[in-house]
Amino acid sequence: MVDVILGLQWGDEGKGKIADYLTPQYDIVARFQGGPNAGHSLHFNGQKFVLNTIPSGIFRDTCLNVIGNGVVADPVRLQGEIEKLIAVGVDVKSRLLISKKAHLILPTHRILDAANEASKGDKKIGSTLRGIGPTYMDKTGRNGLRIGDILSPNFKNHYSELVQKHLKLIQNLNYSDFDLAEMEIPFFASLDFLKEYTLIDSEYYLNNALKEGKKILAEGAQGSLLDIDFGSYPFVTSSNTTAGGVCTGLGIPPGSINKVIGIFKAYCTRVGSGPFPSELNDDMGEQLRKQGNEFGATTGRPRRTGWLDLPALHYSAMINGVNELVMMKSDVLSGLDEVKVCTAYKVNGQISTQMPFDICDSIIEPIYESFEGWKDDLTVIRTFDALPVSFQNYCSEISKRSGCKINIISVGPDREETIPC
Ligand code: GDP
Ligand code: IMO
Ligand code: MG
Repeated sequence: MVDVILGLQWGDEGKGKIADYLTPQYDIVARFQGGPNAGHSLHFNGQKFVLNTIPSGIFRDTCLNVIGNGVVADPVRLQGEIEKLIAVGVDVKSRLLISKKAHLILPTHRILDAANEASKGDKKIGSTLRGIGPTYMDKTGRNGLRIGDILSPNFKNHYSELVQKHLKLIQNLNYSDFDLAEMEIPFFASLDFLKEYTLIDSEYYLNNALKEGKKILAEGAQGSLLDIDFGSYPFVTSSNTTAGGVCTGLGIPPGSINKVIGIFKAYCTRVGSGPFPSELNDDMGEQLRKQGNEFGATTGRPRRTGWLDLPALHYSAMINGVNELVMMKSDVLSGLDEVKVCTAYKVNGQISTQMPFDICDSIIEPIYESFEGWKDDLTVIRTFDALPVSFQNYCSEISKRSGCKINIISVGPDREETIPC
């Protein structure tokens, strides 16, 4: 049986923390899409770790971790991530399995990402510049190289052919700010490093595990509003971040999915460009950024902040078929007299609770409802009943309006700062 955990907003909802928290209930944690554009933070025993490509079950010795075929992996970053984990005593080799079908991010994919963004000027996506878009383009364009290809004696020839194609594209974009030879040294070293790890036919592995009755947690990256199909296109990432991506990104049948757990923050953030109807460009927004420490786990960029957006949450819950909600960072809203929630949009004069198709070109005015705030420090509370009544009301209104029950409330970054409801 497979449970899915994924983000319902624009990423950074706290998927890493909750995946790590839930891991003891599962035999396998598997990432199904994205790559090192993700930054999943885990806090426990007074320490903090950020994972980019490795699933968030890696710290528990009862659990195996699979990088699925839907992931794009940068071997240099993956090596760095593995080495950091080894340095703190994690036995990565026995706990990590990598799909041979996961696509490889080449140095020239990273250069292409930078060249594409530079050519877009003020229309840039705000990519993490990790080479994600160009690698998925090569995958769908049927040019890509996969992790399993590094075992082939012809790998270097295939690599050189693809690099020649990339260099032509890069030249057409008039981009020259790179030193490929320098980037290739760690790249080839990392391929040798990865050959020592377990590269598998992950679709067979996972389906066999299902037959044996094993429990799998599919861990998403990014968020539903960054989905290539359903996000605020073109200001999105290049993969299906939504539940549909689980089947294609792991090779497991739809019927094996038991439940979809949707993670959202008690407010909203977005990093990079693109529409954000409930964005706060004022002191309140700054306060949320400060109190929530809203700076990217991958790039360190300040995150844009705003009130919770219910039409967007409802849309994400619908696309993903969310069964359970997890609300994160509730502690960040403590101390406010009132907490606002966007309940509808005014789009070109018309009130709507739907995400408009032309969200990037429309003038969207958020319509807010106010809720009574709460003053208590939530980080020390461990039971739902001990939470302030006004906060409990906030939770039940969100549940009611999104149509899903909140099953976990997170009140701080640490594993322990978590309230099952
Ligand atoms: P992910 O990409 O979805 O895993 O989320 P990130 O790790 O990028 O961003 C979430 C940030 O919020 C991290 O710095 C977490 O340590 C932190 N965090 C997670 N849950 C909570 C919470 O309940 N309260 C507070 N204050 N911080 C949290
Ligand atoms: P996690 O898994 C937040 C954003 C980028 C940019 C857009 C496209 O930590 O939630 P890309 O590098 O994919 O081409 O960037 O998507 N983005 C994220 N924002 N969290 C992430 O991952 C993100 N991964 C990509 O900022 O706007
Ligand atoms: Mg993140």
